[in-house]
Amino acid sequence: MNSIKKIIHLIAAARPNFMKIAPLYHALTKELWADPIIVHTGQHYDLNMSEAFFRDLNLQTPHVHLNVGSGTHAEQTGGVMIAYEKVLIDSKPDLLVVVGDVNSTVACTLAAVKLGIKVAHLEAGLRSFDKTMPEEINRIVTDSIADYLWTPSPDADANLIREGIAPEKITMVGNIMIDSLVMMTPAIRKETIRKDMGLADKNYGVVTLHRPSNVDTPEVLSRLCQALVRIAKQTALVFPIHPRTAKNLREFGLYDRLNDAPGIILTDPLGYKAFMKLIFGCKFVITDSGGIQEETTYLKIPCLTLRSNTERPVTITEGTNKLTTPERIEDDLEDVMGKNCKTPPLFWDGKTSARVVKPIKAIFAENLI
Ligand code: UD1
Repeated sequence: MNSIKKIIHLIAAARPNFMKIAPLYHALTKELWADPIIVHTGQHYDLNMSEAFFRDLNLQTPHVHLNVGSGTHAEQTGGVMIAYEKVLIDSKPDLLVVVGDVNSTVACTLAAVKLGIKVAHLEAGLRSFDKTMPEEINRIVTDSIADYLWTPSPDADANLIREGIAPEKITMVGNIMIDSLVMMTPAIRKETIRKDMGLADKNYGVVTLHRPSNVDTPEVLSRLCQALVRIAKQTALVFPIHPRTAKNLREFGLYDRLNDAPGIILTDPLGYKAFMKLIFGCKFVITDSGGIQEETTYLKIPCLTLRSNTERPVTITEGTNKLTTPERIEDDLEDVMGKNCKTPPLFWDGKTSARVVKPIKAIFAENLI
């Protein structure tokens, strides 16, 4: 390897990405040969959707900010491609690492591969087999053109092989989100939010909802709110509300009904540490998030996922997760309370960033780039 540091762009874009780049950024800063650069596309821009996570995860201010913001899918994807292409031409990174499945993931990958810049996808191979999900399109396109595919679980490897991807491109590295969780556990434990909200340990549930399929139509969102109101009569529910959901709850005239319901505590989106502190102490989680299905499996906390499928099947087969619907939610809650997992899935151990640094180093050592 020559002595000039290798420039590695890490793409941060939306809330779930920050927990995935943080451990890798911290690991790469310790390597003498690596110059990790954080590129924030600006897909998420509110203080509590972005900056709070950088602070919580001890990430420095992004080196590059594209400030793309919200828009339709084409506007957001196209905006990121146009803005990032200029950065790529100027800074000529040696490698780009994209994570997850958001619009910025596919946009940055497309911009880079067309300039001949190598791209690695961390969290590759996950599939819900549901092309009505924008994230599924993002996953398929990203994996089909990226050069290196780093997967979290064996099902992801199998999906990629089935799609005809060359096996030598695929490395199972494990779940990088669990690295953030392990790294941040001592700081999470010190948070006081549970006490501040007057919640007793294992005596409340946590709710998060933001998928278009759940929150974009009044009928579905209304049925979900009715179910939450019924559940909260038995067990208090804390519901940090995503901006998309907050906007729709207000627009559909549902916000006040939920806010006034006994046992429901609505909050703005929370930072990483405060949110995880609530998860650590809760009795169960009701969600449609991808990452929370994994965090609850690792923490052995019962989780109900309001979706008809999941791209993270090991959380069901090996973990504490169960898919549900607004109609089935109360019955399923009883069911899932008895669900347990003895050990977390393989390589969900806080050591994934080390397993990623190794192949990156190998790529440069072999002068493949
Ligand atoms: C995006 C990702 C999704 C991820 C989710 C986590 C895509 C296709 N979707 O969905 O995979 O699970 O992030 O949050 O990339 N908004 C704000 N402030 C912000 C960010 C967004 O008010 O900081 C508003 C936007 O104006 C828009 C809505 O929230 O009205 C949705 O934002 P957007 O980034 O388009 O998609 P998400 O639903 O957050």
